[in-house]
Amino acid sequence: MITLGIDMGSNTVKAVALKDGRDILAARVEKTGHDLDAITQQVVDTVLSEAGIARAAVAHVIATGYGRVSCTLADADVSEITCHARGAHFQIPEARTVIDIGGQDSKVITLADNGRALDFVMNDKCAAGTGRFLEVMSQALGVPLNEFADFSRRSSEAIQISNTCTVFAESEVIGLIARKQSREDIIAGLHASIARRVFALSNRLRVENAVALTGGVAKNGGVKDAIEKVSGRALLVPPRPQVNGALGAALIAFDRASK
Ligand SMILES: Nc1ncnc2c1ncn2[C@@H]1O[C@H](COP(=O)(O)OP(=O)(O)OP(=O)(O)O)[C@@H](O)[C@H]1O
Ligand SMILES: [Mg+2]
Repeated sequence: MITLGIDMGSNTVKAVALKDGRDILAARVEKTGHDLDAITQQVVDTVLSEAGIARAAVAHVIATGYGRVSCTLADADVSEITCHARGAHFQIPEARTVIDIGGQDSKVITLADNGRALDFVMNDKCAAGTGRFLEVMSQALGVPLNEFADFSRRSSEAIQISNTCTVFAESEVIGLIARKQSREDIIAGLHASIARRVFALSNRLRVENAVALTGGVAKNGGVKDAIEKVSGRALLVPPRPQVNGALGAALIAFDRASK
């Protein structure tokens, strides 16, 4: 049986085609852009064509992410927390906590032994502690996001970024560049800043090991290192961190269609 999960995030749209609730046939991530419906259609078409499947052969489609309620391609929608919990439990069965850092929010979810979400906390009020913060800084520094991890790993001493607010922190970074501070040390400082925010958020819950790190920001190993340093816990990044929610949606679609 083929099922499809779609995650319509603020930054990217993700889709996963799944066979028999077990095998990932295809997965895709695209920037959200201005026309969410058109991008979603494109991502779904690409995934189906890569998997070699016609839409009519898909048993059930579940949408998640902030755009899920307006998704016309799905049979139903499910909350992000439920989908992320399901995806993380599938990818890392021993995970009891999930930290998801996306483009516009960060969330921490605690999981039961069976992978069900027990509790969660979310920061969706402020760009600090999210991927958006890093995107702004990437622009200001002229360093692509996929190089941030390498830059921070070359740092000799992280520069403390004193402003939490993204707008003020951006001005602070521009000032540091003007004073010829190294980009490596600035980026290490930015990662430490995100890590402190996420760690403070996680402290509102009973965090237990193993801890999985998901979302697009999990692809930035510098953020992983910084959270490990501030929390004193090892983080596990699953093989497919960014499509974790879409994978969870496809798994829930399988559960429902199997009933
Ligand atoms: N190759 C990469 N290297 C470093 N960072 C990356 C990379 N790809 C994506 N990111 C980060 O991931 C973020 C997007 O994450 P993701 O796709 O999980 O967001 P989203 O699900 O659309 O957002 P949300 O869940 O908040 O609605 C970007 O803001 C960026 O910081
Ligand atoms: Mg997301």
